[in-house]
Amino acid sequence: MGKLFIEGRVPLSGTVAASGSKNSGLAIITAAILASDGRVVLENVNAGSDLQDLCEIISALGADVRWLDDTTLEIAAGTLSSSKAPYELARKLRGSTYIVGALLARVGEADVAFPGGCQIGSRPVDFHIRGFQALGADVALEHGSIRARASRLTGSRIYVERASVGTTVNLMIAGSLADGTTILENAAMEPEIVDLANFLNAMGGRVRGAGTNFVRIEGVPSLHGVRHEIIPDRIEACTYLIGGAITRGEVQVTHVIPEHFRTVLLKLEQTGAEIAETDDSVTLRASRRPVSVDIETMPHPGFPTDLHPPMVALMAVADGVSVVQETVFDNRFAYTHDLARMGASVKVDRDTAIVRGTDALTGAPVEAQDLRGGMALVLAGLAAEGTTELGGLEHVERGYVGLGDKLRGLGAHVRGGERLPILT
Ligand code: EPZ
Repeated sequence: MGKLFIEGRVPLSGTVAASGSKNSGLAIITAAILASDGRVVLENVNAGSDLQDLCEIISALGADVRWLDDTTLEIAAGTLSSSKAPYELARKLRGSTYIVGALLARVGEADVAFPGGCQIGSRPVDFHIRGFQALGADVALEHGSIRARASRLTGSRIYVERASVGTTVNLMIAGSLADGTTILENAAMEPEIVDLANFLNAMGGRVRGAGTNFVRIEGVPSLHGVRHEIIPDRIEACTYLIGGAITRGEVQVTHVIPEHFRTVLLKLEQTGAEIAETDDSVTLRASRRPVSVDIETMPHPGFPTDLHPPMVALMAVADGVSVVQETVFDNRFAYTHDLARMGASVKVDRDTAIVRGTDALTGAPVEAQDLRGGMALVLAGLAAEGTTELGGLEHVERGYVGLGDKLRGLGAHVRGGERLPILT
């Protein structure tokens, strides 16, 4: 079990490059197994533990997966030898549900572990399953797995409940090799959806409307290999900017697309931070204690739920009282117990947290229980007086590649969190 040791109260200062988007990577690496002809080469891949686990799953299905360097992945899926994902690996990875859509489309059957619940809510997959059924698949939940079968998927018109990101991804993947046209109404509009659509289209797919709430997928008989660069991770990028704000430092994040996180920049400006941007970088400078702001999470282009915990850490040291409402997930506040250990005042009532800022956080032994909640504790540790010892670092490493190295590059006094070796 990894640990990160943080000596707080050191202003972050310097430049850090954003890695490739984890959530785009989960969708695109899975979609790569749709290509029956040629090789897919993916650039700007974030080699965090989630994407490495996914690579292991698709290797077990028969794809030839090779890292060409730390961020470039080559996948050849001309022949697949199995439609059953290794149970233990698939169970721990939420994004493994996408394997069901890809296998159904490519080989007509799938057996993939039901993804575990997690620390941010119950996270059912009923929307995904209803979507596969609408495309003509038989789907059963048996022995802890999703088992799906369809001799041929057929396009359909589907209303995506709650503009679910995962359901939109899965149905874009499955619909790409279906007979006829699939129409998704109320589709998710996240930048990762657009990245997936661009990838599918480059492979010979016909996806239109991605980035709006109405996506049209014309099925094609086959897809082929292609080279594609994954978009930058907007959540990671914003987390480092928040790191600048919480330590009253100056952080420049490069290799980003600022349009992907405009809502977050507006909020950070409201806290009193100065923001400057170029086409592919953003610099945040904070010379004073941040001022409290209210936040309500929403599907894109609203304020992203994945940044609610880092923002609560910022609000925990802000001047004033902040109301943070989480509307996407039903249980994303578990990390606030450990924030309280560090002296934060956070009162949670159902989907809302009231955060009373203090300038007197102190370091403490704390435990990450999920990715973004764990990162909130890291940020609080950077702002706290004394030492924070964060356990459960592996949760944070699912999404923040080389966290310790990147923080040290910004001048933070941290130990641990070296970049994970590539295993496949
Ligand atoms: C994706 O999760 C991301 N994960 C999450 O990032 C992100 O927080 C979330 O989208 C919202 O932006 C990946 O891309 C792998 P949803 P996803 O389907 O697809 C409910 C991170 O930290 N729902 O948009 O699972 C669901 O419970 C992660 O990087 C159902 O009820 O989210 C939630 O309340 C965490 N049934 C809402 O819909 C379903 O079948 C929206 O979830 C599916 C979802």
